Amino acid sequence: MSTTTTVERGTQTMQWTKKDLLGLRELSTEEIRLILQTAESFREISLRPIKKVPALRGKTVVNLFFEPSTRTRTSFELAAKRLSADIVNITPQSSSLSKGETVLDTVRNLEALKIDILVIRHAAAGVPHLIARQANAAVINAGDGAHEHPTQALLDLFTIQEKKGRIEGLNVSIIGDIMHSRVARSNIWGLTKLGAHVTVCAPPTLMPPQIDQLGVRVTYALDEAIRGADILMLLRIQHERQETMLVPSLREFRLRYGLTRERLAIAKPDVLIMHPGPVNRGVEMDSSVADGPFSVILDQVTNGLAVRMAALYLVSGAHKTDEEEPAT
Ligand code: CP
Repeated sequence: MSTTTTVERGTQTMQWTKKDLLGLRELSTEEIRLILQTAESFREISLRPIKKVPALRGKTVVNLFFEPSTRTRTSFELAAKRLSADIVNITPQSSSLSKGETVLDTVRNLEALKIDILVIRHAAAGVPHLIARQANAAVINAGDGAHEHPTQALLDLFTIQEKKGRIEGLNVSIIGDIMHSRVARSNIWGLTKLGAHVTVCAPPTLMPPQIDQLGVRVTYALDEAIRGADILMLLRIQHERQETMLVPSLREFRLRYGLTRERLAIAKPDVLIMHPGPVNRGVEMDSSVADGPFSVILDQVTNGLAVRMAALYLVSGAHKTDEEEPAT
C-alpha cells in the first residue's frame, strides 16, 4: 500500500508517495526537502497559545520503543497530540512481549485495533523494515540498531538550515563513536545528498571500515576535524552496542577526542556545536562546550517536534480524508 500526501507550497505542489519513513538512504533529495519544508510550516504551531491543529484527527499512532528514549519518544508523542491524533505508548516490559509474544504478532494485534502509524525503535538493525513489509500501517523508524535514525538526521538538517541558511557547501565534522552510530549514518546520507562536505573523526577502533565509500573524508585527528568546520556534530560512545570496550578508557578518549573549550580555539568563529543527545558530559564534550555560546543542542530538540509532526503528517496520507493544510 502506498501513501500520497500532497503539500502545496506557493505555486509548487509536492507529493509524498512512500508508505513508510525508514531511512535517509532511500529518500531522494526532493523527498528530504519536502520533509524539511513541511516541518517549517509546522514549526509555529508550537508557539501558539493553543498548540493544536486537526490535521491528523481520527488517526491513531502507536509508539513501540524497545530501547530507552527521552527525546524521540516524547517528541513523537507531542507531535501526534499537536496534530490531534490519538497516541498510545507501548514498552516491551509492560506488554505481552515480556510473555514471549513476537514483535510481528504484537504488530498484527495492534493492526487488529486499526492503528494508522507505528513508530518503532529497536536494538536490531532492520526490524522497522521487516515490520513495514508486513504491516498495512505506516512505519516510522525511530532508530534501529547502528543502522539509521532518520528523524534525528532530519532534525539535524533542519537545525543547520535554520542556523546557517543553507546546507550545500558547508563543512560538517561528525566526531566520536562513528562505528556504532545510527545518527552518523543517517546524517552522512542526508548531508551528502544536500551537498555538504562531511568529515568523520574517531579513534581507529570506532571507525567503520570503508566508511570513505559513503563519500566522506576520514580523519583520526580531532584538530583536523575542527579546523575549517562549520558544524561539529559530537556523538557519545554507544556502550550498549559494544561487547568489549573499544577505547582504553573514557579518560583517554576525552584526552584525544573530547571537545573542550581550549580545543575550540582553532574552530571557525561561527562554528555550531551539535549533539543528538544524550550527552555524556566530560567525555565527548565538556559542560562549558555543551552549554556554551556555540551550542545548538536544545534547538535540535525543539526542532525535533516540528520534524516529527511533518513525518507523521506525510506518511499519514491525511489529505485523502481531511483535506487539511499542514499548518493553518
Ligand atoms: N537522540 C535521541 O535519539 O535521543 P533519545 O534516545 O533520548 O530518543
